[in-house]
Amino acid sequence: MSIYSRGNLLRGLLLGFAFLSQTVPAEGRFLQDDEKQPSGEALFKKVWKSNEVESTDSGDGLGPMFNAISCVACHNQGGMGGSGDNLTNVQILTVLPRQDSRRNFRLDRLALEMLFEQSAKLHPDFKFKNSTILHRSSSEIAQYGNWLKDVFEFKSVAKTTGFESNRTMMEERGRLLSETPIYRVKKGSAKDRFTIQISRRNTPSLFGVGIIDSISSNDILALESAQKKKGGPVKGRAPITNDGKIGKFGWRGEKSSVAEFTSQACAVELGLSNADHPQARMPFSKSPQAGKQSHDISKSEIKKLVEFVNSLEPKPAKLPETGNESQLLQKGQELFNFIGCADCHVQTVGIAQNIYSDFLLHDMGSELADASHSIERKVHSFYGGREEVEFEIKNPQRWQTPPLWGAALSAPYMHDGRADSFHDAIIVHGGEASTSVDKYRRLSPADRKMVLEFLQSLGQESTLDEKPNPAAHGWGPPPRKSRKGRLVRN
Ligand code: HEC
Ligand code: HEC
Repeated sequence: MSIYSRGNLLRGLLLGFAFLSQTVPAEGRFLQDDEKQPSGEALFKKVWKSNEVESTDSGDGLGPMFNAISCVACHNQGGMGGSGDNLTNVQILTVLPRQDSRRNFRLDRLALEMLFEQSAKLHPDFKFKNSTILHRSSSEIAQYGNWLKDVFEFKSVAKTTGFESNRTMMEERGRLLSETPIYRVKKGSAKDRFTIQISRRNTPSLFGVGIIDSISSNDILALESAQKKKGGPVKGRAPITNDGKIGKFGWRGEKSSVAEFTSQACAVELGLSNADHPQARMPFSKSPQAGKQSHDISKSEIKKLVEFVNSLEPKPAKLPETGNESQLLQKGQELFNFIGCADCHVQTVGIAQNIYSDFLLHDMGSELADASHSIERKVHSFYGGREEVEFEIKNPQRWQTPPLWGAALSAPYMHDGRADSFHDAIIVHGGEASTSVDKYRRLSPADRKMVLEFLQSLGQESTLDEKPNPAAHGWGPPPRKSRKGRLVRN
């Protein structure tokens, strides 16, 4: 059975608990040496504990809400800083107006007001946005367990993704799409106006993010105008962050720099509050503020962590060993360009060579849609106490083209990790990529194989890479593969 089957979801969370509490090593004091400021690399590997802080700060350490106990617990495939398998996915809890579905995303003002009013009782974050992280663990385990039970008391609603065709590749696409990893849960009572869904985000690799950070906004905007001018199906939009910059990080391009993402990751994934980001709050706490105001990680430590992450180099492409191999890879790349993959997966963007992305958001079709973080409630206060509420709705079908450098080392693929192979990743593309995927489908098997071989050449593990030791940094044994190559839990 797939680990994503509904029944296993809650168990997965609770297993996460048991696992995390088991794997905190008894000593792990390698950073306790007060004179020595830990290096960025040491901070990336550091196993954090609750109520254990560096001497200069007076925070609460790990948590109270957290997804893992170190950065490397998730970012480790192909070496330290790499991507993560599906067990490291971050899960998101989203509330939606009751009648809504992913395909039919229509909302009226009244429905939205009711949505936010009612769902804020479930989690304080739902006062202003329709999604929050569903953390794997908490230092307040008993209370968190009770809160989770409350959420999971909601009954599951069957979800279907109709797909009819007699072509085998289409059937395969249907299988992948009907396994869409979004779970909807709904409380039985008629007075509840919202439904809940749980969706997930795949852990991307950090190799080369320092280069991405330095790509100039103009290079990305130029790609946007070129696609617009061309007038074809591919018409990406540059992601604009809340502070008006071009977003280059995250599956939706919501952050503009590695520094911003890192302070957020500290706060959200590990529960380390810092000067730039408050730690995630406890859903069951009645206090309006997210815990104490003291910091768990200092500005200078974050700076070191950012420097380390920025220094992770992109993985080089595999060099062909024979002339024949070289020809095949070249032909594979020509086909990749010819069938339109390179319209979005652009080989070189400004200073970033062989990156294969345009950093634009594309409408990938309703089947890849995920309504998480799609609705924001903004309250504007005016002089005299008058308030105005505005709702901002984002397109749930848009995703930023992920760079393909190093992709051979970063399976599973797509924002939710639903594709185990390149072939599966390609056939679930829809929307603006449909024309390109149709062309891929019509290639002869030999040509298709060449495209896949080309992708497989992107990313080679270096023999010098340190292989992080799982047990020491808080992540589990690699999951067994099922017969069909899907992940299973014992
Ligand atoms: C529980 C697993 C997990 C942990 C722990 C974790 N991350 Fe991540 N990381 C993710 C996921 C998932 C994303 C993608 C999030 C998204 O796009 O919404 C991500 C994205 C990132 C990105 C943006 C990469 C890009 O190209 O878009 C950076 C930078 C990053 N993480 C750094 C860190 C650092 C530094 C730490 C430790 C403080 C850390 N992460 C801890 C799962 C994790
Ligand atoms: C319209 C733009 C567009 C086109 C054309 C396109 N892609 Fe993509 N590609 C994307 C986006 C956006 C994603 C991420 C979507 C998601 O996560 O849901 C993606 C994801 C991928 C991934 C997974 C990467 C990862 O790290 O998870 C691979 C592999 C890939 N594309 C290869 C291809 C190939 C091969 C083609 C040509 C047949 C192609 N793409 C055509 C935009 C495009």
